[in-house]
Amino acid sequence: MCRRLPSVLAQTARMAWAIDRRAVLLLAGCQLAIGVSAAVLLTATSRAMRWILADGEVADRLHQALPALLVIACASAAGRVATALSSYADGRITPRLTTESDCALVAAVCRMEAAARAEDGCADRQEAAEMGVVRSHVMVQDATRFTAAVVRMVSASGVLSVLHPLLLPLLLLAVVPAGVGAVLHARVNYETHYANVGDRNVRQNLRGWATSLKFTDEIRANGMTSYLVFWYRSISERIDSRTLAAAPKMLRIVLVSSAIGGIFLVATWAGLAWLAGSGRIAPSIAATAVIAVQTALAALSQLVIYGAAMFHTSLYLADMGGFLDYAAERAPNRGEFTPSRPVEEIRLDEVVYRYPGKDTPAVAGVSLAVHSGEILAVVGENGSGKSTLTRLLAAIFLADKGIVAWNGRDVADLDPDSLWDLSGLVPQNFAQWPLSVRDNITLGQPREVGDHLVWRALEEVGLRDAVEELPDGLDTLLARELWGGTELSGGQWQRLACARALYRRSSLLILDEPTSQMDARGEHAILEEIKTIAAGRITIVVTHQLVNTKIADRIIVMEHGRIAEHGTYDELAHGGGLFAELLALSTDR
Ligand SMILES: Nc1ncnc2c1ncn2[C@@H]1O[C@H](COP(=O)(O)OP(=O)(O)O)[C@@H](O)[C@H]1O
Ligand SMILES: [Mg+2]
Repeated sequence: MCRRLPSVLAQTARMAWAIDRRAVLLLAGCQLAIGVSAAVLLTATSRAMRWILADGEVADRLHQALPALLVIACASAAGRVATALSSYADGRITPRLTTESDCALVAAVCRMEAAARAEDGCADRQEAAEMGVVRSHVMVQDATRFTAAVVRMVSASGVLSVLHPLLLPLLLLAVVPAGVGAVLHARVNYETHYANVGDRNVRQNLRGWATSLKFTDEIRANGMTSYLVFWYRSISERIDSRTLAAAPKMLRIVLVSSAIGGIFLVATWAGLAWLAGSGRIAPSIAATAVIAVQTALAALSQLVIYGAAMFHTSLYLADMGGFLDYAAERAPNRGEFTPSRPVEEIRLDEVVYRYPGKDTPAVAGVSLAVHSGEILAVVGENGSGKSTLTRLLAAIFLADKGIVAWNGRDVADLDPDSLWDLSGLVPQNFAQWPLSVRDNITLGQPREVGDHLVWRALEEVGLRDAVEELPDGLDTLLARELWGGTELSGGQWQRLACARALYRRSSLLILDEPTSQMDARGEHAILEEIKTIAAGRITIVVTHQLVNTKIADRIIVMEHGRIAEHGTYDELAHGGGLFAELLALSTDR
């Protein structure tokens, strides 16, 4: 704890300094003012007491005490103003501090290599790091209150040790056990929280899926509701049981530390009573000592509470820092070359890729070359490695072995952002963004040239009429969950995902089962469009509708991560191999 507190204080100060220097200076000035006003208050109290408790006429005594009383009033007012200004400064820093931490976390996750996110434990680490963001809400407040308590305590202790040297050590003994107790309490709390990370992650995901409007049909009509509710409750109860198991431990810590602290506190008050009763200190000094003890006690309690809170925060910040380092280590560590434009050739040489935790590779030695102007169809049974191959072609994953080269240069040497500037992808699981129709198409590349390119993309996928009929046209919000939102059908969403990729007019277009949910007209429109625009680009289409491969110049048939067959539609359809077998199955009804 002694090592952690200064480091978390320094970290908070560094982060706050980067956000708003004036607010940090104001905050520091206020802490100083709070401490000075506390010291002045106590000294003036001591002086006022001397007159008030002296012999003589009340009016005379009050008159004599008046200057000290005025100092007390001014010091109190200054202390209050400093406290108010300090919380104003905190209000200027905290929201931006939280935003900084939050954005750093989101950016780190978004920028990680896609393959690294599939690693075991990555999601749990991320969930643990989220708590760092949550704690950043109270980080400045805790640090301010902690330093204010330190300053106040130092002032009160100074005054107290002047009054009598015995009082301060007794007081410290009264609070140290509470401090140790609070730190142990925070540690048990954190350990329980940490033990629950995995389950909380599952619960949060499950909650999203079970309550999402998107899956209501499936959940209801498959009778899954009771099971999901039961499952959710079971996970919640498992989390609760760990939390409850820690409760007796926490109770023991609090009871023992309070008991020891209480004994020393009684000793402090008894010591003060003895000093006053035996005439070792004057009544006016004793009265001031009572106030000083109270002040120091309050400051020490605050010190313990906020010290423990900061210790608690430091544990979560360590998780967040650890995750940010982990994510940074997994950020693309590729070359910085910019690929030459346009992409005219993609070549794969003995490419192997295995998912983390899997025994067999999903792509197990694929060699292939595809050129601009060509349409390459990829077919094969489920799990044969088609989607993985598209991820390797698009350089989303880097090959474990072998080379994927764009225009003759290994994609591992190319800057990923400039590389993905040249590609357009309709993945098998495309996103249904809760945004307007326009944003669903232009996301990532808004252009300020009017809407005609957006309409062209919509027309290419046969969605123009449907969008024109929507209440707000291109501005219609596509999210039924949100106020005023509209919902599209599955096939319409898929057309929109295709429009998004076509809108990019990229020199590499990859479509992974782009028409799986579409009606015949939609499918026909898109295949026609692919043919029309194929001249200027490399087009790769993964499909299960084997008849669609007729539009392709070449077809590869994947089996167990390898290319089992390679040829034109006519060659493969009559070749007597896997393609011919699958084709026969598709027409055998
Ligand atoms: N994200 C993933 N993590 C682990 N294994 C995966 C992942 N995606 C796919 N796989 C596995 O890789 C193999 C090939 O999958 P995929 O390329 O999606 O096949 P296809 O698209 O041909 O159906 C399958 O065995 C699948 O289980
Ligand atoms: Mg697939």
